Amino acid sequence: MNGQKQKAHWDFKYEQGLPSLTQPDPFFIFAYGHFVESSFPNAGVALDLACGLGRHSLWLASRSWRVCGVDLSEVAIRKLNHAALELNVSLDLFVGDASEYKFGSSQFDLIVLFYHADRNLFPKVVSALKPGGLLICKISLRWDTDASLTAAGTDPLNRNELPSLLPELQVLYHQERQVRDRGVVEFAGRKGGQEIVFAPSENLDSPQTAHGRPICIGRSSTLCSGSVSV
Ligand SMILES: C[S@@+](CC[C@H](N)C(=O)[O-])C[C@H]1O[C@@H](n2cnc3c(N)ncnc32)[C@H](O)[C@@H]1O
Repeated sequence: MNGQKQKAHWDFKYEQGLPSLTQPDPFFIFAYGHFVESSFPNAGVALDLACGLGRHSLWLASRSWRVCGVDLSEVAIRKLNHAALELNVSLDLFVGDASEYKFGSSQFDLIVLFYHADRNLFPKVVSALKPGGLLICKISLRWDTDASLTAAGTDPLNRNELPSLLPELQVLYHQERQVRDRGVVEFAGRKGGQEIVFAPSENLDSPQTAHGRPICIGRSSTLCSGSVSV
């Protein structure tokens, strides 16, 4: 599906008010609590790529983060602008292809990328993070080798591909699991800083449970506590 078709697909979905993601993803809340809060207790500057209706942008902005949101869908950005005004928070919103966004270098303390797979984005994401900045992302995966395109017509990532697209980031958390006929990868990484690999217990399929009982493995063997403007 080309860019125009993608835009039409998402504009139609948002215009129709079809069921959409409005509550922050459990993994976002988990990763924020474990990795972001302690690093940025006074908030910072965040970028929400393919932000959709802005469930994460709004959540961050209401916690004093300065947030830029980018999405291909004009309808989603219009609705998000409206929601931001209602909540009395300010967002910097951009309509367009995330890959054409002017990321700049060392601009963001936090980049959030949920459910949008574009391999070309990752070098730009790394460059746009400040040293010590964090990436939190969750993306659908091709789980079976014969499964082809996603509903939105994009080419999904393969299993174990994401960390290889982000070799410059230190892995804080990486988990891949099957969800119906697809998979999902949850990833948190830091640009620079001390390496701690954070992996969930085995055989846990609900995000809440998985995130509630973490095991830490890594060099230090440290045990981590469960712990618009338009
Ligand atoms: C499944 S939604 C996820 C929205 C949001 N990240 C969330 O988790 O709530 C995918 C979003 O990606 C956006 N999108 C698709 N292709 C895009 C592109 N090339 N650049 C920017 N956004 C894109 C769509 O408009 C849609 O809002």
